[in-house]
Amino acid sequence: MSDFLLFLGRFHVLALHLPIGMVLLTAIVHWLSRNARNNSLQQVLPLLWGCTASSALVTVMLGLLHFGEGGFTGPSASAHRLWGIGFAVGTQLAWFLSVFNINAYRNWGGWLTLALLVAVTVTGHYGGNLTHGSTYLVEYAPQTIRDLVGMEERRPAVTDITQADPWYDIVDPMLQSRCGNCHNDDKQSGQLNLSTLDALMAGGESGAVVLPGNAAGSDLYKRITLPQNHENFMPAEGKTPLTADQVAILGWWIDAGLPAETSVSALAVEETTMSLLAIEMGLAPAPVTAVAERYAPVSGSLLGQMVASGWLVRQLSQESNGLIVSINAIGQPVSRDMLAFLADASGSIVELNLASTGMNDDLLALIADMPVLENLNLSNNGITDAGLALVSGFSKLETLNLYGNPAISDAGLASLDGLENLAAVYLWGTAVTEEGIASLQSSLDGIDVQGQALPR
Ligand code: HEC
Repeated sequence: MSDFLLFLGRFHVLALHLPIGMVLLTAIVHWLSRNARNNSLQQVLPLLWGCTASSALVTVMLGLLHFGEGGFTGPSASAHRLWGIGFAVGTQLAWFLSVFNINAYRNWGGWLTLALLVAVTVTGHYGGNLTHGSTYLVEYAPQTIRDLVGMEERRPAVTDITQADPWYDIVDPMLQSRCGNCHNDDKQSGQLNLSTLDALMAGGESGAVVLPGNAAGSDLYKRITLPQNHENFMPAEGKTPLTADQVAILGWWIDAGLPAETSVSALAVEETTMSLLAIEMGLAPAPVTAVAERYAPVSGSLLGQMVASGWLVRQLSQESNGLIVSINAIGQPVSRDMLAFLADASGSIVELNLASTGMNDDLLALIADMPVLENLNLSNNGITDAGLALVSGFSKLETLNLYGNPAISDAGLASLDGLENLAAVYLWGTAVTEEGIASLQSSLDGIDVQGQALPR
């Protein structure tokens, strides 16, 4: 089926609300109009049935297009289709009678309306099964109700991580909540059902999706570790992805050979994995992110002064005191006062962008102590080798952009030798030579040096 028809088909899930609302409204008006006082309401019934019937017809047609996407294979899918078509046919009949055969409508309209309400409810129920899986509704129901639909007892909440079953308590709930919408008994995108362990093992369209003991080679694991914008990334369609911890747990579980019907204590589980599992199960508090504690908090008044003086200041993340600082008006030269504020906040500045701000060695000396700075951009300034000697004191530095500082040479570069965390240096437009780069690379193993060196 062409992409355009599939595109239209997706509107089924939007359109379907219209006939539902219309048939409810029409039913209400129908019964109100039977009261002698509201007799005049009868005049609008043909119009209301017309709207109901037309919207039902459109919805069914879109539904059939949507069906063409495939994956709707289970019993709920055929039941949904059958009841939906039945409902649409019934609404045409009600419309026809209300317009052309008022007598028959008077006699049978009530029953027909009732039947249509039943049909729309049943259709909706099966449709719901398709999107949420057939056990969605009763997942949290009392066991007596769950028994009625043949569902097993809910597993008791795990209170001790060592007693948890790796599949039933840990992996299965994760897959249900993140993948269940599209891979369940009723809807099997890619012919893959993830609702039970057997179904998972049975694989999908392209065969096995999990290879016991080999996460890296498993299609399922590959897909959850792709970049999120990759077309094969799962969950598809921008649905909430698994967290990094959950991905790690799935990887562990596959590598461990898909253990089920056992307990975590029966497996040789490393301590790091154990704490990962405990956190995922809510049995251990998530560790306070190390980031939050690493940086000194900056007072509101200092922040205000920084901003007022012309800095653009952002927080590294909501939970972190770390700051990302750059100049607000690009190309504006920095002043000594502005740099003094940076010096006051130096315990929190993680990223600093001073590109094209007229920085020179003297000005750099004002911020010579940057204990947590990781990324520094000094491009297009007048820094020389003497300035670089100051930078050598930024012990946490990871990337350094020196593009367009023509006075920087090998001698200055050599002073970076001691920056153990330094992973990337940008050197276009400096006087550094191949020899200088080679020397830096020999002292800082694996450093990424970008930029043309002048041949010696
Ligand atoms: C919004 C719907 C949707 C969700 C949610 C979803 N998938 Fe899929 N999945 C698809 C579709 C559609 C396909 C078939 C197209 C393809 O192969 O990319 C598919 C295919 C797959 C396949 C390949 C099956 C085969 O054999 O070809 C795997 C594996 C898979 N999904 C795993 C997952 C996992 C794991 C999750 C949860 C993290 C997930 N999916 C969530 C829609 C979804």
